Amino acid sequence: MRILSGIQPSGALHLGNYFGMMRPAIELQERGDAFYFIADYHSLTSLSDPDVLRRNTRDVALDFLACGLDPARTVFFKQSAVPEVTELTWLLSTVTPMGLLERCHSYKDKTARGLAATHGLFSYPVLMAADILIYDSNLVPVGRDQKQHVEVTRDVAVKFNLAYGETFVIPEPEIREEVATVPGLDGQKMSKSYGNTIEIFAEEKAVRKKIMGIVMDSRTPQEPKPDADRNLAVQLLKLVAPADTARDYEERLRAGGLGYGDLKKKLFEAYWEHFAAARARRAELVAAPDYVDGVLRDGAAKARDLASTVLRRARRACGLD
Ligand code: ADP
Ligand code: TRP
Repeated sequence: MRILSGIQPSGALHLGNYFGMMRPAIELQERGDAFYFIADYHSLTSLSDPDVLRRNTRDVALDFLACGLDPARTVFFKQSAVPEVTELTWLLSTVTPMGLLERCHSYKDKTARGLAATHGLFSYPVLMAADILIYDSNLVPVGRDQKQHVEVTRDVAVKFNLAYGETFVIPEPEIREEVATVPGLDGQKMSKSYGNTIEIFAEEKAVRKKIMGIVMDSRTPQEPKPDADRNLAVQLLKLVAPADTARDYEERLRAGGLGYGDLKKKLFEAYWEHFAAARARRAELVAAPDYVDGVLRDGAAKARDLASTVLRRARRACGLD
């Protein structure tokens, strides 16, 4: 089974990225042949500073490796190191109905938030379809917001197969319901673009300040809180703390007697502890840039090998060769 996913280097990675996509992807390494990449071509739809793009790309590589991506069993690479994917994007775009792209939420959301309405942003799902199809992927672990793009990929693959004969494997999304949408500091979906993130690797003081600053209601500590399960700090605590600790705090909040300050303090401690080993590993990787470059270079060579085989199949199917 081939497992594939990508993540854009458009900013520091956060708990939503980690629990929604990275951790499931890292766990899936055990179950098959995993291909994970840094979607730098995609990032050009929202980023226009070359130095920032280079720095973010490096940071995503460090973050992913620190969190447990194992290059001995997983092919890890930069999307743009496999330019074959842009050729496949063109072939796929000729069978992609406009209406399919017009229905995509991501384009509408991003332009509503002020991103330039470029053709690249509009046709981004076709590049994503090429990413998935060019590696004969079976399973695509992503957060819920990417589900529609995997559905577009399936539709496009079916259309191509109908037009030109069986060429592509039809992929399935893998979405973990329990972490499908991790809430941010303001209760909306945690997202780089909403400025409501808790980064995986940030300075201790900065994260402590963010967590202690989470706004709660004005009920006194003594008041019982029957809605404890909907409390944002409790929801985040369930992700980063051992299950019995999170349950204990939730119960104490429900019963009354636990102050919001103490709850947030516990959340910070559990967060800091959860990523302690990854933080240490990341510091080692920062000191070994040649190792990181080598991982990406080896990954790109393997990815390119497979991509050119599948591209050749598609070129032949549609009559280019
Ligand atoms: P952002 O919204 O911060 O720009 P991306 O769109 O780059 O994040 O998402 C990268 C991956 O992380 C995708 O698979 C996405 O589904 C997942 N993801 C992002 N935010 C969340 C979240 N709050 N909860 C669950 N998964 C998320
Ligand atoms: N569009 C995805 C995101 O913003 C990143 C991505 C690009 C991707 N290509 C992919 C994810 C292929 C899974 C499979 O998060």
